[in-house]
Amino acid sequence: MKLAAFEGLDQTEEGADFNIGGIYYDGENHGGITIPDMLSLLADHDPSATVQGLDSVPESDRPPVAVVRNAFSVMVFIGSGLALLAAIYLLTWFRKARLPRSKWFYRVVVIAGPAAVVALIAGWITTEVGRQPWIVYETMRTTEAVTGAEGIPIGYATLAIVYLGLGSVVFWLLRRLARQPLERELPVDAEVAR
Ligand code: HEM
Repeated sequence: MKLAAFEGLDQTEEGADFNIGGIYYDGENHGGITIPDMLSLLADHDPSATVQGLDSVPESDRPPVAVVRNAFSVMVFIGSGLALLAAIYLLTWFRKARLPRSKWFYRVVVIAGPAAVVALIAGWITTEVGRQPWIVYETMRTTEAVTGAEGIPIGYATLAIVYLGLGSVVFWLLRRLARQPLERELPVDAEVAR
């Protein structure tokens, strides 16, 4: 079901297509590229293999497809972008023995850091929402596993306060360093030579 949700595959199919990109809403994928039979090939190493669609289980046993599919697309989009960025870097390095010079390359490098965090969260959403409604597949539902743990808001509030505090200190430190960089310490013998 998780794979069917990744791909928004409504019906069980022989030779199922693979969708790259697009946005999933109103029960189907809009836009993107379709590669015929590719999902069967990926899932079973056979282009005419049968891939189970969402219709193979009752609606109450399916994950929320839009969340899973769109989170999966975000992760794959960012992952492919990061791989492309690394490929550009390596190609420049091996062909010209220098770093890339384009401003755009470095702009994208700056975005790559936060984008990797977004991919990470999207990956986690893909995995965890994709397994719903089961906590133990076909045995126990997530709703049955929820405990009545009290004090969770206090735990979260404490965490939030600690991280906000740490974040503020880092922000303050970085601004201070940016305004007034530390003087570079010279090695002792350089000091003597001077
Ligand atoms: C083309 C690129 C990528 C593909 C095809 C891909 C594929 C997948 C798949 C299939 C899963 C689900 C595994 C499962 O639930 O059975 C997954 C999970 C995940 N992915 Fe990606 N991924 C890609 C890029 C990335 C990137 C760039 C990151 C982070 C920087 C990332 C982080 C994660 C994380 C954190 C999970 C959840 C793992 C877990 O909790 O078990 N992925 N990915």
